[in-house]
Amino acid sequence: MVSRSGRDEGERPTVLVTRRLPAPAMARLAARCTVDVHEGESPLPRKALLARIAGRSGAITLLTDRVDEELLRAAGPRLRVIANYAVGFDNVDVAACTTRGVVASNTPEVLSEATADLAFALLLAAARRVAEGDRLVRSDRPWVWGPEFMLGGEVHGKTLGLVGFGRIGQAVARRAVGFGMPVLYTDVQAQPPAVERALGARRVALRALLEGSDFVSLHTNLTDATRHLIDAERLGWMRPTAVLVNTARGPIVDEAALARALRAGRLRAAGLDVYEREPQVDPELLRCPQAVLLPHLGSATDETRQAMADLAVDNLLAVLDGRRPPTPLNPEVLEP
Ligand code: GLV
Ligand code: GLV
Repeated sequence: MVSRSGRDEGERPTVLVTRRLPAPAMARLAARCTVDVHEGESPLPRKALLARIAGRSGAITLLTDRVDEELLRAAGPRLRVIANYAVGFDNVDVAACTTRGVVASNTPEVLSEATADLAFALLLAAARRVAEGDRLVRSDRPWVWGPEFMLGGEVHGKTLGLVGFGRIGQAVARRAVGFGMPVLYTDVQAQPPAVERALGARRVALRALLEGSDFVSLHTNLTDATRHLIDAERLGWMRPTAVLVNTARGPIVDEAALARALRAGRLRAAGLDVYEREPQVDPELLRCPQAVLLPHLGSATDETRQAMADLAVDNLLAVLDGRRPPTPLNPEVLEP
């Protein structure tokens, strides 16, 4: 018997893990549940995912798995928790989970510093032509130090625009303090004056941010409101010497419009960790030497991936044990 509010009684619940997680987290799951884990380096194909989730009490899902009405239906009435192994949850239809009384959770906070580090790495690499220089040194082409050889853009003291000023955006702002960079930000929520002062940050409208920043870094969720937030028109508001950094979600940027702006010299450079049709990258963008392109590595450190796995497991086990999970997306499901 599975009771909704209490423990799974009399049997070990079975849970689906859609890709193998770091070992300590897998061991904690196995101590409490029967675990069906998808092995391999690519996501479960959709049909297999729908078949494998049938009858499960919970699942740990990745950003490459779409959790929607169809999946919830395929899972059936035992399903109580979807623990998404990511801070972003645009792959999860949270409302559909709520309707079915399924708790959805994500992994906020534990990856903020790692993601902010990577955003800063992209910012520096794009401004100072790090990837381009590396390619040159490895190539057969001759090079020699020269007064105007491979000049980039200065970073120190330049203005940083943060689109989205949540935990990750603020972690990027903390790094910017060390580089003497004033910060402009947009967010639905204004931060208290003490926070703004400490980070040298000022809240402005998006247009003022794009017009006034030398670097623009994106830290919003992907929603209907932020899809193509940075389109051809908004790219046109940016300074031709500016650099765009995206470690959030690809579809926030119109990738074709970005490639056109870079190729036309209407933007200095871009540093991208995420793509509109990931893992595909717009072929025009691949031809832009001033685009630094990474394969979605924002949270990819040993420490952070372990912390994300621990948090996903904490969420899943808490729901199965009838306790309050640490980071639910739809806490209303937990109300008595
Ligand atoms: C990764 O992109 C995440 O959202 O955690
Ligand atoms: C993510 O944790 C954010 O709020 O930026």
